[in-house]
Amino acid sequence: MKNRNPRTFEVKSFGCQMNVYDGERMAELLEAEGLSAAAEGAEADLVVLNTCHIREKAAEKVYSEIGRVLGRGGGAQPMIAVAGCVAQAEGAEIPRRAPGVDIVVGPQAYHNLPALIRQAKAGGRAVDTDMPAASKFGALPARRRLAPSAFLTVQEGCDKFCTYCVVPYTRGAEVSRPWAAVLDEAKALIDGGAREIILLGQNVNAWSGEDEKGRARGLGGLVRALDALPGLTRIRYTTSHPNDMTEPLIRAHAEVPKLMPYLHLPVQSGSDRILKAMNRSHTTDSYLRIIERVRAVRPDIAVSGDFIVGFPGEREADFEATLRIVEAVNYAQAFSFKYSPRPGTPAAEMDEQVPPEMMDDRLQRLQALLRAQQLAFNQAQVGRRTEVLLERPGRKAGQLIGKSPWLQSVHLETQAAIGDLVEVEILSAGPNSLAGAASMRTAA
Ligand code: 5AD
Ligand code: SF4
Repeated sequence: MKNRNPRTFEVKSFGCQMNVYDGERMAELLEAEGLSAAAEGAEADLVVLNTCHIREKAAEKVYSEIGRVLGRGGGAQPMIAVAGCVAQAEGAEIPRRAPGVDIVVGPQAYHNLPALIRQAKAGGRAVDTDMPAASKFGALPARRRLAPSAFLTVQEGCDKFCTYCVVPYTRGAEVSRPWAAVLDEAKALIDGGAREIILLGQNVNAWSGEDEKGRARGLGGLVRALDALPGLTRIRYTTSHPNDMTEPLIRAHAEVPKLMPYLHLPVQSGSDRILKAMNRSHTTDSYLRIIERVRAVRPDIAVSGDFIVGFPGEREADFEATLRIVEAVNYAQAFSFKYSPRPGTPAAEMDEQVPPEMMDDRLQRLQALLRAQQLAFNQAQVGRRTEVLLERPGRKAGQLIGKSPWLQSVHLETQAAIGDLVEVEILSAGPNSLAGAASMRTAA
């Protein structure tokens, strides 16, 4: 039997931070409709799978997750909604393959969830993968689910069409949210207790808009406007494209104290031949020059990146060029992936697909180098004092976990509360986190 009158819900988000943000907004929307979040570990009446399509057999994973949810024991089967990028890419194919699915809703249409639930309640199946001209944001309730560090989507979609990437198809064209909408949402987040705001966009540094005086502004201008908001202590943004790394944004790193010293700037490959085949529209040289300019104004900045190994046509010499650019940049953090052909993208049709064993080997060599750099970056903090924003409880009693300005996770025992900014002495460092001791409380 199917539950046709859901009272509790669970939103399970996969993939990127933008999906996490969308998941939070869906939860707020469902709460505004009178549903409540299922208790931890309890079985929800409505399960929303907010999916990712970027790599691997993402769609296959969704089908096995659907099977898992439907197969859980107990009473009536939950209502199931598939949201996110797999929903966008597969649409009505999903309920055809998995008849237990009631709702399919794309990333630009989830403000319609209440209407879709009503259709599903009446026994129907509801699919909405429209990309409406009017943005969903205007139709969503005000922000309510708050934490010390909050995501805020300011830009969505992508017009760059890298040949491996599915995002321009699943998230649509590049769109910036208006200046006032962003600042209003930021104020609501701060009023609700956010101390840090992380501006999100697939190409966040391509954000553009007009300020209240009608002047054209870029992300650097938006960061400065956020800096002026009382109560906010930290600003971050992700993910950036090298070609949109403008001078005003770089200057903001020098001049805006709330802007944290961290830059996620994917390069993908260190071979110009492969960058060209990827349609990246930058070269290794132009990338390195940007890093140099950013480090000139903010020498301590933590640089992070994304890499793809085994792009079609990648030979040993191309891969070695990737190792060289990693050595030249010296990353504080990085994410590296095996190339995964995405249906409908140009690279999926290219000759010279790289065999899986070769991809495995390259990924291991690249990750060994990146891990060593990350460990060295973390170890350089040992013995220093740094400010940490406390974000969540740790595993042990009395332990809290927060973030350093360089986005390192820091574990410590403290009497301070989640949301506090504390000064911490770093005692030890591993590849993924630091351990520290609170020295004194610096701010509430
Ligand atoms: N295969 C492997 N990795 C990919 N990425 C995007 N598309 C693919 C793909 N088809 C990686 C890129 C991007 C990150 C979010 O995911 O490195 O920056
Ligand atoms: Fe996955 Fe990209 Fe979609 Fe995010 S935007 S959910 S990473 S495909």
